[in-house]
Amino acid sequence: MGDPWITDWLHLLARWFHLVVGAAWIGASFYFNWLNNNIRPMQDPSGRLAGGLWAVHGGAFYEVRKYKGAPETLPKTLHWFKWEAYLTWISGLTLLLFVYWLDAGLTMVNPDSGLGVGATTAIGVGALVVGWLVYDLLCKTPLVDKPGLGFVVAVLLLGGSAFGLAQVLSPRAAYIHFGAMMGTMMALNVFFVIIPGQRAMVDAMVNGQDPPLAKGRAGALRSLHNNYFTLPVLFIMVSNHFAFTYGHEWAWAVLVALSLIGAGVRHWFNLHGKGEKNAWILPAAAVAMVALAFVSHGPKAAPKPGAQVPSFAQIQVLLGKHCTQCHAAKPTFQGITAPPKGLLLTDPKVVQGNAALIKAQAVDAQIMPLGNLTGMTPEERALLGAWIDGGAPLE
Ligand code: HEC
Repeated sequence: MGDPWITDWLHLLARWFHLVVGAAWIGASFYFNWLNNNIRPMQDPSGRLAGGLWAVHGGAFYEVRKYKGAPETLPKTLHWFKWEAYLTWISGLTLLLFVYWLDAGLTMVNPDSGLGVGATTAIGVGALVVGWLVYDLLCKTPLVDKPGLGFVVAVLLLGGSAFGLAQVLSPRAAYIHFGAMMGTMMALNVFFVIIPGQRAMVDAMVNGQDPPLAKGRAGALRSLHNNYFTLPVLFIMVSNHFAFTYGHEWAWAVLVALSLIGAGVRHWFNLHGKGEKNAWILPAAAVAMVALAFVSHGPKAAPKPGAQVPSFAQIQVLLGKHCTQCHAAKPTFQGITAPPKGLLLTDPKVVQGNAALIKAQAVDAQIMPLGNLTGMTPEERALLGAWIDGGAPLE
């Protein structure tokens, strides 16, 4: 990983850039969805317009027109929206490379799988490639004309990948690679289908031919898929901050449930935009969300009254065995050059002050020690939990 401060800065810049271009991409996508939904018929002697709308923003008035087919003459400057998508994908891959693939021993390996660094990384990278190939192939079958069946197949295949990835990758890597797989489908949809289709349309127009309808339809279908992917992918990108999702015993099921809720909410917006009233999707999504929160985060057994609280000496032994290789001023763990998150578990006051955070990561979600590289046992986790539940006393 080289000098830590350089990699830290590169990481920060890549993440910032990824967020900015991602916001631009999703923003443009939401704006055009909104535009399409709000275009209304307007006075049009030429008969070429599908409609138009007026908007006011930032102290100015804007008028937008939508054409049924192509305009009579093509304007000199025609704006395309594609770099947002490409740059989001490229910066996303850069982040995957630096945060996961180059550091796979720490970040990707799932000790339960018995797979080594090479095989684990290959599966992570392969998921993006195979995911796209399978999806692209399915989009060229008659399945695309059967939305109901297509949805069932998509849920089964995506659910299967979430389950599969959770068996072979570390929990966080499984989440991110599942999101990156969908993000790859979205970006490559733009690159291989949507933009070439638009280019063919423009070329046909310039040559005075009819626009190729099949290409337009394929592009519209991929745009619709991208639309449904947006909310699940955005959840996955922030999921790394929420250990109770990816750290859950059934992390893959939490992932599938949240993705379905996200896509469902997107569906409601699509129906709403078309002027269709739907009364049950939003309440159902809300109920599903509450149910998921309760099922996944059910009340934990309270510590038995009168149970003996372990001594800090016992806890220090445990921290020395499982944590301070990394969480020390001078980590001894290979590849770790500074205490992760500045968390010095060699300092009793720091341990006590961060007891709740330690419980969340090492007792409840069990994502620390990283990848359980030190083989911390359930008994040791219970001991740590009992000490924290007992008020984390330092004597
Ligand atoms: C192999 C190295 C390694 C070991 C061993 C390890 N950690 Fe960590 N720990 C990390 C890394 C890396 C991070 C930062 C992860 C990230 O980027 O979010 C981290 C983050 C944390 C955090 C989150 C801090 C925050 O501000 O979000 C806590 C809490 C934590 N570790 C506790 C523990 C405990 C308790 C143990 C021992 C039971 C332990 N760790 C063992 C590498 C390790």
